[in-house]
Amino acid sequence: MADVDPGLGWAARRKRVARETQRRSAAHAAAGTTDMAPGPFSQRASVYTDPARFAAERARLFGGDMPLVAGLSVDMPNPGDRLLFEETGVPIVILRARDGVARAFLNMCTHRGAKLATDCTATARLTCPFHAWTFDLAGKLVAMPGARGFAGHDKADLGLVPVPCHEWQGIIFVQPRAGAQPVDIEAFLGDFAPEIAQLELGRAEPVKSGEMRAASNWKFALDTYGESYHFATLHASTIGITHFNDMTVYDRFGRNHRVSFPDKGAAALSTMPESAWPEVDYGGVHYLFPNTVLFIGSIEPGKGFTQIFRLFPGASPGEMVTKFAVYAPIGVQSGQHRAECEYAFDATAQVVSSEDYVIAANGWANLVNAPPGQRIIYGANEMALPGVHQAIAEAIGMPLD
Ligand code: FES
Ligand SMILES: [Fe+2]
Repeated sequence: MADVDPGLGWAARRKRVARETQRRSAAHAAAGTTDMAPGPFSQRASVYTDPARFAAERARLFGGDMPLVAGLSVDMPNPGDRLLFEETGVPIVILRARDGVARAFLNMCTHRGAKLATDCTATARLTCPFHAWTFDLAGKLVAMPGARGFAGHDKADLGLVPVPCHEWQGIIFVQPRAGAQPVDIEAFLGDFAPEIAQLELGRAEPVKSGEMRAASNWKFALDTYGESYHFATLHASTIGITHFNDMTVYDRFGRNHRVSFPDKGAAALSTMPESAWPEVDYGGVHYLFPNTVLFIGSIEPGKGFTQIFRLFPGASPGEMVTKFAVYAPIGVQSGQHRAECEYAFDATAQVVSSEDYVIAANGWANLVNAPPGQRIIYGANEMALPGVHQAIAEAIGMPLD
């Protein structure tokens, strides 16, 4: 992995990045500034509404060529544990076998196609609910009642159909298409790899998960995660109280980025020497191309939470779903910490559903009725958003104008 000092543990690396972010936050808080692009950016509103572009995104981003986050290793730590991954429309089951390896398969019986797993209950084998063909955790067909009826068919040839699955640094990625060409995850992430690796997601403990929907385009909803320009208005009674409005510390890593939104405590830092600054936990919003947002936050020092948002397009340009999960970063420290992580889930789900996604939905209803040529403008202070749209446009081979 590039750019990793092998002598530096991940915790020390996070600490170093956190301090650097704190310095940048303090400077912005003192000066009333923010990281900005050289200038504003605009694109046609049809980037969100065009059915052809939407179809290309579904095919090129969600159709198997790109690895997509299906969950964390800690969501399925033991042999027999499984995850379902169905949000791209292809039913996939991920199984951890006795050898410890997580493998993904079409969730399809090789007899007559029935769906095998309908929930995430751990089992030693997968038995089809139709005629009881049974598969082991590595996808091999191990039992076939009435085998006399299948002369000439070898059990060895009737294993589950695999799809590429990668377990990397505590994250499970799937490329949801049988026959897809497996990609190299570190090459895919590029210089974002150490930024994600340092999160040590393999040490997390799942606390709570659920989903949020908006009658909106998936990219229009995704935009709400990338800027703090709306904190004082849309989130006036929540994040807007604790955090500066329109203040962002931004770093781009190829198609990915990290943003940090300074809290109002940063204002006091410039009045004291750096040696007297309180130590802060590492935090930030990480956009992992194409559809995942990892937010590392903390309730108080040492008691953090990790939130993972995975956004998927629905069946039409105006439908989307977000799979949302909260984890305790190095395990749940106490009953109180668990309650705080649960609160982090509930409070965030409430803000996203009742504020961000309401705006996404009512803005969407406007976009689809806007005149041809209507443009969407992103200020220089909303600098994370153009990079996301450019990366998506490039990946689907449909340049922005
Ligand atoms: S479809 Fe699965 S056993 Fe028949
Ligand atoms: Fe928001």
